[in-house]
Amino acid sequence: MKKTQVAVLGATGIIGQRFVQLLEDHPWFEIQGLYASERSEGKRLGEVNKVKDHIFMPETMDRKVVQIDIAKIAKSCRIAFSGLPSEIAKDYESQLAEAGVAVFSNAASHRMRHDVPLLIPEVNPGHLELVKRQPTFAKGGFIVTNANCSTTGLAPPLKAMQDAFGLQQVVVSTYQAVSGAGYPGVPSLDILGNVVPYIKGEEEKMEAEILKMLGTLKAGKVADAKFEMLASCARVPVLNGHLESVVVRCVKEPSVEDVIKAMRRFRAEPQELELPTAPKEAIIIRDELDRPQPQWDVNAGEPARARGMAVTVGRIRKKDKYVKFFLLSHNTLRGGAGGSMLNAELAYAKGILK
Ligand SMILES: NC(=O)c1ccc[n+]([C@@H]2O[C@H](COP(=O)([O-])OP(=O)(O)OC[C@H]3O[C@@H](n4cnc5c(N)ncnc54)[C@H](OP(=O)(O)O)[C@@H]3O)[C@@H](O)[C@H]2O)c1
Repeated sequence: MKKTQVAVLGATGIIGQRFVQLLEDHPWFEIQGLYASERSEGKRLGEVNKVKDHIFMPETMDRKVVQIDIAKIAKSCRIAFSGLPSEIAKDYESQLAEAGVAVFSNAASHRMRHDVPLLIPEVNPGHLELVKRQPTFAKGGFIVTNANCSTTGLAPPLKAMQDAFGLQQVVVSTYQAVSGAGYPGVPSLDILGNVVPYIKGEEEKMEAEILKMLGTLKAGKVADAKFEMLASCARVPVLNGHLESVVVRCVKEPSVEDVIKAMRRFRAEPQELELPTAPKEAIIIRDELDRPQPQWDVNAGEPARARGMAVTVGRIRKKDKYVKFFLLSHNTLRGGAGGSMLNAELAYAKGILK
């Protein structure tokens, strides 16, 4: 089978290089080119390597990065995976879609557009249909986005609870890893031995994005979910993995056992379709009193290519009418490049990338 040719945009950044990691042995997709700014033109990937917990193949490290060239990408690629900063991504992604390329983006710029799916295949696979409403779809071009890294971890457990009990109120407090800020990110003198209780725009993104993703698609439009959502976000001195403390009030009050059962039986389209990067279990529940922890659980997910793609939930408990739990997810895999990869795999499996 001839593999689909893909471009990686932002290949010198953390998300771009997570894309490269996931594409090295992808069964359907193959890297055509690595793209970044003019600053990186001609550099070998090995010279600008930021992902240090994956052993890349020597031939991958020898590949050269070139400046983004829309015409060249449009001529040779069906897909562009975008790990560009939002302010840069907006125009490039629009131009690529206009030129007939399917863009799977990590950037925030197009997430809240009415005709752009904000997609997590386990949570709202039906929203992929929105691409057909994009003016460029007739030419084969469209944009699919994935959510902010902290919203992504939260969505699967909430979806399991929404389906089983309905949601009335969600209060989330995050402990977010430094890799979430890109490279070089937060200066070490500001974060070592410290916690920073502010991440620009993060709380607003979490509060808006979760309602869109858990909303209902009706007549080609997403009607936002109706529960109350409050987020507080902090940066902590952890390398990878966002930990979140979640308090939920449901419409139909569940017991702790009901919540565990709902999350354990949570299965969705990526698992049924056996998408290559889908974890066998999207939500893993830990019974130990001190889990999940970034060092232990950040790479949760089976099989090997789905490492870092499962969300780990622990300490599920109740106080009065409120259910409380912690969750952990890998911000640059599940919450970043892995999420986009799964979105592209869903589109491919559904014949949207022909
Ligand atoms: N890190 C996370 O956990 C995470 C999770 C989800 C989503 N995201 C989103 O994913 C995107 C990338 O994040 P990141 O953490 O990978 O950032 P990053 O490490 O700062 O990488 C940014 C990349 O964008 C390229 N770039 C910057 N300006 C450019 C320009 N003018 N033209 C072309 N390329 C340009 C950079 O290339 P040069 O080296 O050539 O400048 C680099 O390759 C952001 O939108 C971010 O919000 C990040």
